[in-house]
Amino acid sequence: MTQMPVLRWPAEAIWEAVAPLLPGFTVEILPEIDSTNTELMRRARAGRLDPLLLVAETQTAGRGRLGREWHSATADSLTFSLALPLTPPDWSGLSLAVGVSVAESLHPAIGLKWPNDLWWQERKLAGILIETATFGGQRYVVIGVGMNIAPREAPGLSTPPAGLQELMPDMDAPKTLLRLATPLVQAILAFEASGFAPFAARFNARDVLCNREVRLSDGLQGMGHGVDETGALLVHTATGMKHVTSSEVSVRPQPAVKP
Ligand code: BTN
Repeated sequence: MTQMPVLRWPAEAIWEAVAPLLPGFTVEILPEIDSTNTELMRRARAGRLDPLLLVAETQTAGRGRLGREWHSATADSLTFSLALPLTPPDWSGLSLAVGVSVAESLHPAIGLKWPNDLWWQERKLAGILIETATFGGQRYVVIGVGMNIAPREAPGLSTPPAGLQELMPDMDAPKTLLRLATPLVQAILAFEASGFAPFAARFNARDVLCNREVRLSDGLQGMGHGVDETGALLVHTATGMKHVTSSEVSVRPQPAVKP
């Protein structure tokens, strides 16, 4: 017997809004998969490159950045990936542009922590995992988003993640997806046409590291100063302003220094 999704997903409404923007676009909801990013890359390797929004109610092997695992609970989280052929002249800043779009679709109080986490009240609300590959000479991107909808325990984490319902109690995973899917596609197409520059001020308006002491994993310390037009993090250090681009760099706000 085929397992049915446990939530009511607005697949048709999203398809109607997005298909005119992305020819060949489809929406698919799966009750369970290892990882929506992994599945879309598998399909792409098999030659299926049409634009696709793949939502999973449960991921059994969700992946985060830097090889980490991404844990999520069915119905208490939103996990999806959007895959499409994309040919921007410059890829820098794509994940930041995605964060800007998702945050703007939801709530003015949602912050962005460079490079691509959504934060609320000092806690992580959502993460973004972008992967690209070339198939038959065509560049293809998979944009994965994982968002906590209900607040949840996270044993082992020093700070429990935030849940969207703490900020927007009426939201569930399907409503959240409906709100953000079409603006996200529009943002990606805008990025393809014009790059990150038009998103920079919008990112900076939500930058949670701005004017805070930050420490990078390579030992660099300084004051967060927003991002530049390519999406590099500006850090004001003792030896001048640094433009930080490496995705291997982790940035942690330090506790405020007491006078
Ligand atoms: C991070 O913050 O490290 C990124 C997390 C990205 C998680 C999402 S959930 C949907 C998609 N499928 C995955 O396996 N990962 C991304």
